[in-house]
Amino acid sequence: MINYLNKIKKFFNKRIFKTPDLKYLIKEKNNTENKKKHVNYWLKHAKKNHSLFNFFFSPNEYVKKNENIDYEFQANKDSVITDQMFSALASAGILIIKNALPKDERENIICYFSELQKGAYKKNWSEKPQTLFNDNDTELTYGSTDISNFKFLKSYSDQASQAIYNKIVKPNVDFHYLKLINKSEKLIKGETYLHSDRFIPHFKMFYSPHKIDSGDAPFQFARSSHIVNENYKNFFINSKSFDETDELSKYLMNEIITVTVPENTLYISFTNGLHRRSDFKNLKSERCMLFLQYVERFNKFDYLLN
Ligand SMILES: [Fe+2]
Repeated sequence: MINYLNKIKKFFNKRIFKTPDLKYLIKEKNNTENKKKHVNYWLKHAKKNHSLFNFFFSPNEYVKKNENIDYEFQANKDSVITDQMFSALASAGILIIKNALPKDERENIICYFSELQKGAYKKNWSEKPQTLFNDNDTELTYGSTDISNFKFLKSYSDQASQAIYNKIVKPNVDFHYLKLINKSEKLIKGETYLHSDRFIPHFKMFYSPHKIDSGDAPFQFARSSHIVNENYKNFFINSKSFDETDELSKYLMNEIITVTVPENTLYISFTNGLHRRSDFKNLKSERCMLFLQYVERFNKFDYLLN
């Protein structure tokens, strides 16, 4: 019965309450007036949330003043995301915390990944993990579990959602084990081109138990491209592809940050800004990435009811 109720809840969260994405803008591609109304309507509501206001709508002068602010930090002993860290996130759109988790929590996460690598499942998975192939270039094995399995990760997640959304939001916790199975990979729209996930301000959290070098498909982010200003609105109202192949994207692009990191690194990124997973450059490369996503439980109504 509980399982049945959970499925109904999931259906409502995924379909009816779903946070606005780019689909409407794609559907209305020839009607600029409708697109303008849609973008302005949702951004006007998001702006009323004072936490979202601080991170996404602050005047450009603030970003200019903090242009060179450092967004890379070492974790502190209480695993606190400090005000200084949040200021860096507000300015750059990305925050990197190195040495984030204690040894035993990192090892527990590595155990989940090794089950995905081996295809033998004993851990607390929500459902049996699945495998997907992309053009015979990459193989992705993925599975999900509950955040309550990871005390420190949960603490970071709660602090981040409280600060950014003004509410603690339970994330979906998705493990992705991605492997290059060809000699190289073709670029993919919505993944390996710099792109935006949705025009409404939102964030994702990532954790990598292992080191990521430049050839291991590191995450990239166009610095400060999350800030809602005239160029940002113009891009979403007039763009055709919502990615770097569109001429208008150049107004959002400045410095491209590449997240090459040591083992045990956590990072937060505002993925309404332009970002991508870079393509694999190392033969026989693989990547273990844990994604914390909030879109299912911070939905349409959360943006409307401020
Ligand atoms: Fe994305």
